[in-house]
Amino acid sequence: MSTAPNAMLNELLERRRPGYSLEAPFYLSDTVFQADVERVFGQHWIFAAVEPQLPEPGDYITVEVGRKSIIIARDDDGEVQAFHNVCRHRGSRLCASHKGVVGNLVCPYHQWTYDLKGALIHVEHMGTEFDKGKHGLKKVHVRSLEGLIFICLADEPPADIDDMVAQMTPYIAPHRLKDCKVAAQVDIIEKGNWKLVMENNRECYHCVGNHPELTLSLYEYGFGYQPSPSNAEGMQRFRDILAESHKRWEAMGLPSAEIETLDTRVTGFRTQRLPLDRAGQSQTMTAEVASKKLLGDITDPAIGGLSFWTQPNSWHHFMSDHIVSFSVMPIGPDQTLVRTTWCVRKDAVEGVDYDVANLTKVWNATNEQDRRLVEESQIGVASGAYEPGPYSPYTEELVEKFANWYVGRMRAHTPA
Ligand code: FES
Ligand code: FE
Repeated sequence: MSTAPNAMLNELLERRRPGYSLEAPFYLSDTVFQADVERVFGQHWIFAAVEPQLPEPGDYITVEVGRKSIIIARDDDGEVQAFHNVCRHRGSRLCASHKGVVGNLVCPYHQWTYDLKGALIHVEHMGTEFDKGKHGLKKVHVRSLEGLIFICLADEPPADIDDMVAQMTPYIAPHRLKDCKVAAQVDIIEKGNWKLVMENNRECYHCVGNHPELTLSLYEYGFGYQPSPSNAEGMQRFRDILAESHKRWEAMGLPSAEIETLDTRVTGFRTQRLPLDRAGQSQTMTAEVASKKLLGDITDPAIGGLSFWTQPNSWHHFMSDHIVSFSVMPIGPDQTLVRTTWCVRKDAVEGVDYDVANLTKVWNATNEQDRRLVEESQIGVASGAYEPGPYSPYTEELVEKFANWYVGRMRAHTPA
């Protein structure tokens, strides 16, 4: 990137006002967008997929990060691998489809053939001196956190992923994502900047006014609330339920306490197991489980929802019967892919143990409502009349932490 865009970026980053939303160019400018792809998505661990998308050796998917296409595959030893989707001969894309099953990766152009560890194993007409060992696929760093697949495109990935994996493993492991299957996956392309998508996810200020389905099971007090005499009783009741639930779940071997590192680490994340309202079991229209086969060794359906939020691009809800995961990928300054994946136990039978429409109803409705909120924000921000507005100190703390993290990471990767 040339000096001029860096100067423009540094000026924007410098002008950032704590407690206020970001300035318009952060959501509109091509220069900022290119910097986001290069410096945020290109330098940090990003959530890419869940292992149930690759149940067997030979299964692969591709994910697009800006102009880069990445192959994520399960090799013959059952390990998850990630490569740039670019042939080492003359650069053709290897896999044009988004998912498939292969024995080896064969380039469609001149049939250079790579195994699923990325080694070049077969070429023709390249002469006896040609060294296949020097032409393996370019690897991408990959880590699985109990079945959540993170990739990093940087040469030197942030080392604090180890700590996130260590802290999060006991929380996620009981849900046994690796023993699940994908029951449904939905892609939405939202006409909004990826940061508006993330900021919208980091608050529930908008939930009561916009998400009638989601708020059937979510307690409104679980995500920040301004105390007042009229809600004092309700808030106290929620605090009591939270404390009692955490005690019960911890005794069952389910870690539940909040861990909050959203803007204090390079690989920022937050987690907490939160009680659910009504039946207390799952994010469905009745708050009862959507799948009869509970995950792993879980026997009590009423274990609330373990939420896990990661910077820069994901959030997940782990319940007793299913797991719902969200990945956010930037497409353009005003276009973002939001991919939602619902997983249930591998041996759950569709139509017998679960019904896809019931399983997906709450989040399909919520995603559609959020899409509209993001798109209306994008229109307003682009109108010329927008100026950064104040965050609520009670309900938008995590939005500010997202902005803090983003600004901090951009500063770290933008030359002075
Ligand atoms: Fe892949 Fe030639 S570009 S084999
Ligand atoms: Fe929402």
